[in-house]
Amino acid sequence: MVDDEQVDSYEHTPVLLREVVAYLDPQPGNRFIDGTLGAGGHAGELLAGSAPDGRLLGFDRDPAALAVAARRLAQYGDRLITVAGSYGDMAISAPEHGFDSVDGILLDLGLSSRQLEDAERGFSFLKEGPLDMRFDPRQGETAADLINNLDAKELADIFRRYGEEQQSRRIARLIVVNRPLLTTTELAGLIEREIGRRGRPGRHPATKVFQALRIAVNRELEEVERGLNGAVGLLRPGGRLAIISFHSLEDRLVKQFFRQASRDCTCPPEQPVCTCGGQAELKLVTRKAVQATAEEIAANPRSRSARLRVAARITSGRTYGPPDD
Ligand SMILES: C[S@@+](CC[C@H](N)C(=O)[O-])C[C@H]1O[C@@H](n2cnc3c(N)ncnc32)[C@H](O)[C@@H]1O
Repeated sequence: MVDDEQVDSYEHTPVLLREVVAYLDPQPGNRFIDGTLGAGGHAGELLAGSAPDGRLLGFDRDPAALAVAARRLAQYGDRLITVAGSYGDMAISAPEHGFDSVDGILLDLGLSSRQLEDAERGFSFLKEGPLDMRFDPRQGETAADLINNLDAKELADIFRRYGEEQQSRRIARLIVVNRPLLTTTELAGLIEREIGRRGRPGRHPATKVFQALRIAVNRELEEVERGLNGAVGLLRPGGRLAIISFHSLEDRLVKQFFRQASRDCTCPPEQPVCTCGGQAELKLVTRKAVQATAEEIAANPRSRSARLRVAARITSGRTYGPPDD
């Protein structure tokens, strides 16, 4: 259970809120899935817009976030259903709750400001805390488990693949020589001292390593792939899928998925005749990623890196007009 104080302290300003609502266009009676409920900012607007009888199924892996969202959105009663688990499982769990032909699905990827600011969660290199980084603190390996048990090559692979860190091997060797490392500031301090502030000005040298560890701990890219694949089959024809990503690895995945799913034939271009018989399942609604306005970035700097892409479900032979931009 969470109390009012915890609800009030769970600050998270939803990004691209106006744009998400415009693209998902909630109407009375609509049904939505929010795969990343967080503090419920986007979900609240979708529930308000689909009054009096629209319903929303909200997933989050973080039980604390779910408890806060449930309390914040209590006014919507049984129009909100929450699921403690990954949106990667939505293809199976959404139909169990009667959500199998929905009007819109939202994934607002990554972590919330609240999770970042809570030192005990271990996401931030600026706050002393255990190297945890699990969205669901009840299960799975922590960042400390990876840092202290993997060999230098495995660590370097994580830093390169999930952080695009150019000094991945050097940092991995440094960690292996200096471990055990148990806290965020031990790890960040080591990287800062030994690698220095050579990267982008204003960016802490441990930024990419922390991003990489968080992605590896939570298998985030695998979950995005599972979520995207599962979401398409849950949309009614014309239903929309809206994805907000915060770094290039996620955005690239989303862009490639949308491109692939919006093509009929996926045979190699050099093949003269189509043999795959593929049919597009999605139609792009946004041709380019939508970004926050200057006003939103000024009010919420976190929105600077947000990229929103939207696609609509099609059934074979049906189209829904050209993309918006
Ligand atoms: C950026 S926040 C969402 C904020 C939310 N849209 C709002 O308006 O408050 C992302 C949330 O997704 C959750 N999350 C991350 N990966 C997840 C996954 N695979 N399945 C379900 N929730 C996930 C995190 O715990 C976090 O609460």
